[in-house]
Amino acid sequence: MTVEQQPGQASAGLALELEDIHYAWPGGAAALRGCTLRLPGAGLWMLVGRNGSGKSSLLRLIAGLLTAQSGALRRSGRCALVFQNPDHQLLLPSCGSELLLAIDPQLAEAERRHRVDAALDLVGLTGLAERPIHGLSGGQKQRLSIAAALASEASLLLLDEPTALLDPDSQAEVLTLIRRLTQRPEPALSALWITHRLDELRHCDGAALMQDGRIGAWQPGCDLAGQLSAHRGCSGAALA
Ligand SMILES: Nc1ncnc2c1ncn2[C@@H]1O[C@H](COP(=O)(O)OP(=O)(O)O)[C@@H](O)[C@H]1O
Ligand SMILES: [Mg+2]
Repeated sequence: MTVEQQPGQASAGLALELEDIHYAWPGGAAALRGCTLRLPGAGLWMLVGRNGSGKSSLLRLIAGLLTAQSGALRRSGRCALVFQNPDHQLLLPSCGSELLLAIDPQLAEAERRHRVDAALDLVGLTGLAERPIHGLSGGQKQRLSIAAALASEASLLLLDEPTALLDPDSQAEVLTLIRRLTQRPEPALSALWITHRLDELRHCDGAALMQDGRIGAWQPGCDLAGQLSAHRGCSGAALA
């Protein structure tokens, strides 16, 4: 899902800035309680936190689907959400038609077709433009969701537990793909990836812990994984 809303510009070099964001759902549940986050530029940045700590609310707010009750949000460029379950965001019958939906309709038809093929190439789905989406594996569907985000020219990907429903091979493929995409010098791409799998933290450029609607400081993913796996109540592999 791509979001067009353009709030204030983030400071130079940052993909995103949040300052003291508060958000409570209409029913009254406070999800974000003074959330501050500075997302450095290109790279793979991960947030980890227990269920209910506010991670999904945060991504929806960054994407513009929710509006904070107070605080400031500044973003550079366009962002796109990738959900845990690709069936919740893939709408059209074929891979190519899904990607065309994400591409600027003002562009010439040949350019739009070229962009479809280029996006499929980037995620390892070369030549599958005509393939029905229902015939794809879970991992392929998730890579198609990422291709749609890329086709929309998003410079910030917001990934909400994108590997939670995938088998181990597909989990590794999606993680490797995002890692590779965020390491390319051009176009600069930042990914904010939510996970509850501690092993995934070992592959990011920086990780932070989300607790009770607030985000801790960035630290090396290996350090945070080590702290959390030593912590009482953690299974060692995942944060419940
Ligand atoms: N659609 C919703 N309506 C009302 N409350 C919600 C909704 N989604 C989440 N919440 C509440 O917001 C808080 C944070 O939830 P969420 O952002 O989903 O956390 P996480 O993704 O870390 O599990 C929880 O108290 C949750 O019950
Ligand atoms: Mg969630």
